[in-house]
Amino acid sequence: MNPSAPNPSLRLYSDLADWYPLLTPVGDYAEEAAFYLRLFQTYCKQPPRTLLDLGCGGGHNAAHLKQSLACTLVDLAPNMLALSRRLNPECEHVQGDMRSIRLNRAYDCVLLHDAISYMATGEDLADALATAFAHTAPGGVAMFQPDFVTETFHPGSESGGSDGNGRGLRYLEWRWMPDSMAEGYVTDMAYLLRDENGGIEVAHDRHIMGLFPRSIWLKLIADVGFDPLAVPFEHSAYSDTGHEVFLGLRSVTQGGT
Ligand SMILES: C[S@@+](CC[C@H](N)C(=O)[O-])C[C@H]1O[C@@H](n2cnc3c(N)ncnc32)[C@H](O)[C@@H]1O
Repeated sequence: MNPSAPNPSLRLYSDLADWYPLLTPVGDYAEEAAFYLRLFQTYCKQPPRTLLDLGCGGGHNAAHLKQSLACTLVDLAPNMLALSRRLNPECEHVQGDMRSIRLNRAYDCVLLHDAISYMATGEDLADALATAFAHTAPGGVAMFQPDFVTETFHPGSESGGSDGNGRGLRYLEWRWMPDSMAEGYVTDMAYLLRDENGGIEVAHDRHIMGLFPRSIWLKLIADVGFDPLAVPFEHSAYSDTGHEVFLGLRSVTQGGT
């Protein structure tokens, strides 16, 4: 297993992308998006007006944030961008890699949501954080939300899914940590896809995820130029789990990128 090589063949983000809204419905994002907006409004030195979402996926957070912020949405996978374009036609979409993209523009708010968990090495994570800094306006805020840090990770399995437009999806998510991985873990995902005629397809993806201690997150956020901060994740499904959201605050006085 080579954690430094991103897996370009994840079916969920390519040929199965149209099933993604059944795996994680857009309505489920309302509570967390409201929390992110409160954080942006609290920590941004100016009234926040613009947002860059790096790793936007299906645009499910953006669907809730776009009422308050003018959104630019970036993702590596063309099929995920197509999904988000359908949901968020009023938003700008750009294909790119969060480790290297440079739009030469600055935003009041930069969001690297769960997609940042795909940064499977410290080098990739540092590159993604540098991208966030390069796009954060003076006085602005970047927000990072890995699925886990080392302190909150636990191996385990979960299941879920939903129905829509005559189709249905159910999944089993199985997180585990191979002995060979120093700074990451594996999420094996099995999908059961039921089409309009009742036919069933079974598919599997192996997601390679990064895992870093809280102290490393705070150090790397500071290293790229932000003032780092960790705040508890206020969400009804995450009470007492110890989950936090990391913020990078960009000083008003800092110069160029
Ligand atoms: C779970 S989805 C994100 C869902 C998103 N939070 C939402 O609101 O819908 C993860 C996304 O990360 C994207 N991704 C993974 N590595 C990336 C990279 N290096 N640069 C940009 N996007 C990346 C994938 O293509 C995928 O669309």
